[in-house]
Amino acid sequence: MEKLEQIALTGLKPTGPPHIGNYLGMLKPSLELAEKFQALYFIPDYHALTTVRNRKELTNLTYQATATWIALGLNPDEVIIYRQSDIPEVFELAWVLSCFTAKGLLNRSHAYKAIVDDNVAEGREEDKNINIGLFTYPVLMAADILLFGTHVVPVGLDQKQHLEITRDVALTFNGIYGNVLTIPEAVIREEVMTIPGIDGRKMSKSYNNVIPIFAPSNEVLKPVKRIVTDSKRPEEPKDPDACNVFAIYQHFADADAVAAKRQLYLEGGLAYGTMKQELFELLETTFSDKRDRYNALMDNTDELDRILADGAEKARAIAIPILAKVRKAVGVRS
Ligand code: TRP
Repeated sequence: MEKLEQIALTGLKPTGPPHIGNYLGMLKPSLELAEKFQALYFIPDYHALTTVRNRKELTNLTYQATATWIALGLNPDEVIIYRQSDIPEVFELAWVLSCFTAKGLLNRSHAYKAIVDDNVAEGREEDKNINIGLFTYPVLMAADILLFGTHVVPVGLDQKQHLEITRDVALTFNGIYGNVLTIPEAVIREEVMTIPGIDGRKMSKSYNNVIPIFAPSNEVLKPVKRIVTDSKRPEEPKDPDACNVFAIYQHFADADAVAAKRQLYLEGGLAYGTMKQELFELLETTFSDKRDRYNALMDNTDELDRILADGAEKARAIAIPILAKVRKAVGVRS
């Protein structure tokens, strides 16, 4: 496929091995965009430093995120894959942008507000356990994006507000200095907004309801078997759209299979146990080769380091001239 000149950029926060919710919400759409755009996909390891306090863990989580991208099919010869912390220009731009970010905008950030609300509800001091890095997280994210002249940013719905903040800050800056920064667009897939976890709530590590994609087969089978359903017997008609198993299944099976299953739900004759087994097999087919690749990469972190170093060099080649434009615009030595 002919690629566009335009840039797609996204960050995969290093928070642990990916699950189906991550895959459908953010990874898969990003992989698809990488076919069409010049893609810059990076690991925001300094964002993770707002919460991760263990040196080994941060290093390892960063490798996991890198291996995830590559195992799922990103080709480092075509996609620029890098570590945020390897790009010093990001942090300089973050400072510049912070001078154009209204504090009120950050006060209203959902992620920050959620912690404040929690503190207040528990009778603690408002800003208990909130470091400034957590507060200014959206500014660093804006720098990640704006430093590369990014056009599109594939993200999950939870990042929508962060993209609005990025655009707001960029527009403020451009309003003063002219068209220096490219205004990015979020790309959010509405149809995969909420992938249910095995308990029916949104799939999220913090709810402990995830189905991992790279874990050994038995660790995939276990949560699949535990997906909550109602207690209808096989012969009873069922509502596919109220079923957590079907909600996941429909994203992996082909259209004909999904239609046939829908029919079977409605007519009766489907056992949840069978449906879960089929979902499991589908996940095995989808991910088993990728899981092997992931494990091989995690056993060869030198290779990952090489890929990341190479990516950083290519990324900086794009970033440096854009930062120079910003420096010139504001009137520091360029
Ligand atoms: N905040 C994003 C998340 O939690 C990760 C991220 C950091 C990001 N910088 C980014 C995503 C830039 C897209 C673009 O998932």
